[in-house]
Amino acid sequence: MALLDLIKHRKSVRDFLDRPVEREKIMMCLEAARLAPSESNSQPWRFIVVDDKELKNKLCDAAFGGLYFINTFCKTAPVIVVVISEKSKFLARVGGMFRGTKYYLIDIGITCEHFVLEAEDLGLGTCWIGWFNERAVKSVLNIPQNKKIDILIALGYYDREKLGPEHGREPTDKIASFNSC
Ligand SMILES: Cc1cc2nc3c(=O)[nH]c(=O)nc-3n(C[C@H](O)[C@H](O)[C@H](O)COP(=O)(O)O)c2cc1C
Repeated sequence: MALLDLIKHRKSVRDFLDRPVEREKIMMCLEAARLAPSESNSQPWRFIVVDDKELKNKLCDAAFGGLYFINTFCKTAPVIVVVISEKSKFLARVGGMFRGTKYYLIDIGITCEHFVLEAEDLGLGTCWIGWFNERAVKSVLNIPQNKKIDILIALGYYDREKLGPEHGREPTDKIASFNSC
């Protein structure tokens, strides 16, 4: 599919099919993520792919308990990808402090979108998940508490007919202009 068509086709999926995702496909998503650009080529990311059903359910119970219940739909996803934000390279950190810009978060956004678009191309659905109990996720996966997890990605097959309503976007003339503000 042409890139723009693929981008138009992608929607957040919140109801997944009970069908395992082939490791080969997950590896292709990881390859797309791995090739993402980053500030000073820092590559400040690590991915923990949880596709063991028992562990994934335990993770979801922990991540989406209490305040975070709104994302319990993730339990239907056969795969949860935990994205660890690693420390950027020294140069990127100093530059970021100087500019007041969190470059590492831009980097994490790009790598995750690479992952998500590759998944879409492979016929898989995804949902970015920013609302979860980070401490509980670390505890289940034995990730040191001093690590930062900014985002999870739910991944799996889905039924396109059952997708929720389209989320509209601002028109281009409202978000972009040429040659002046
Ligand atoms: C950084 C980020 C965090 C998000 N966190 C959540 C979340 O916790 N739960 C959820 O259901 N969707 C989450 N989403 C999905 C957005 O709600 C969704 O992308 C947006 O409403 C546009 O809809 P669409 O993806 O179907 O085009 C998140 C998206 C992003 C980019």
